[in-house]
Amino acid sequence: MSTASFALLPSTTPAADAVRDNILAAPGFGQYFTDHMAHVRWTLDAGWHGHEVRPYGPLTLDPAAAVLHYAQEIFEGIKAYRHADGSVWTFRPEKNAERFRRSARRLALPELSDEDFIGSIKALLAQDHAWVPTPKNAADECSLYLRPFMIASETFLGVRPAREVDYYVIASPAAAYFKGGIEPVSIWLSSHYKRAAPGGTGFAKCGGNYAASLAAQKEASDHGCGQVAFLDAVENKWLEELGGMNLFFVYKDGRIATPRLTDTILEGVTRDSVLTLAKDEGLTPEERPISIDEWREGAASGEITEVFACGTAAVITPVGELVTEEGPIRLAAQGDNEVAKRLRTKLLDLQYGRSEDKHGWLT
Ligand code: COI
Repeated sequence: MSTASFALLPSTTPAADAVRDNILAAPGFGQYFTDHMAHVRWTLDAGWHGHEVRPYGPLTLDPAAAVLHYAQEIFEGIKAYRHADGSVWTFRPEKNAERFRRSARRLALPELSDEDFIGSIKALLAQDHAWVPTPKNAADECSLYLRPFMIASETFLGVRPAREVDYYVIASPAAAYFKGGIEPVSIWLSSHYKRAAPGGTGFAKCGGNYAASLAAQKEASDHGCGQVAFLDAVENKWLEELGGMNLFFVYKDGRIATPRLTDTILEGVTRDSVLTLAKDEGLTPEERPISIDEWREGAASGEITEVFACGTAAVITPVGELVTEEGPIRLAAQGDNEVAKRLRTKLLDLQYGRSEDKHGWLT
């Protein structure tokens, strides 16, 4: 794949080294942004054009821009990791590029090629690589979180696919998504709200899905939980995913299961990588329907020994308990989340270049 050519408009006010170092020492998640952003414009007449890396800053949008009214928007999440020799790597970016095109088709947005998607990330990293943090030790999951997104920027209030669209990539230094790091999180089971319905946008990474999850996420925080789990919209029985992460169950006989992909579940890149790494570890991965009753009964009988959430932002985070309106579900056989920790170490070692990239996942 050749790299698309991006014109450079350098920032005249980049952060001073000391300011950047201060941010990189404790970046949190999604609070600070690098000096530049990548941008490509699309119009119905001219297609994709105007590839550039320009100073990071506010966008100028007409108040009638379609995205502000009809949420015609998609995004991705992908991280850049610094290896011990100082080099900077991304993880399976072609998977994100492919998913971005799937999301674009569902939201009636134009599709972006691998060349432009990966090229925009490379062009931004070429400029802002100093913002990729250096991990302090093997448990440190600091990275530069990249957020490609596409918006319908046409000034038009009629309801139809926009004829003017903008694509950007912004970058934000990141520490662990959950403040407790690897500490188990409590999850709230939403009994009322649904995240996605068949035929809807659940499989697409669009802002609307996340907006629809927020009332349930608020319910979760009101119950002291860090995330919310959603059941399917038809039978109110099958586990789908969390607000922004996929779910895995570890069984005492060596099986490891995750809900099978449907059009209501986001196909996570970490989810897919965990399935492969689990197989490498001699576990038996399964993608199949998993009901809330299976969670309840497996937790009580000791069949299920671990539950964990995974995603680009969350990496792999053990789930301590599922809080429901009928009371909490806790694992009778709760150990120290050995499998989640082992898979997490495998994944991080690979991403940070501490182990052989035998699947060819690093770019
Ligand atoms: C990601 O993991 O990249 C996401 O987009 C999820 C969000 C909770 C940050």
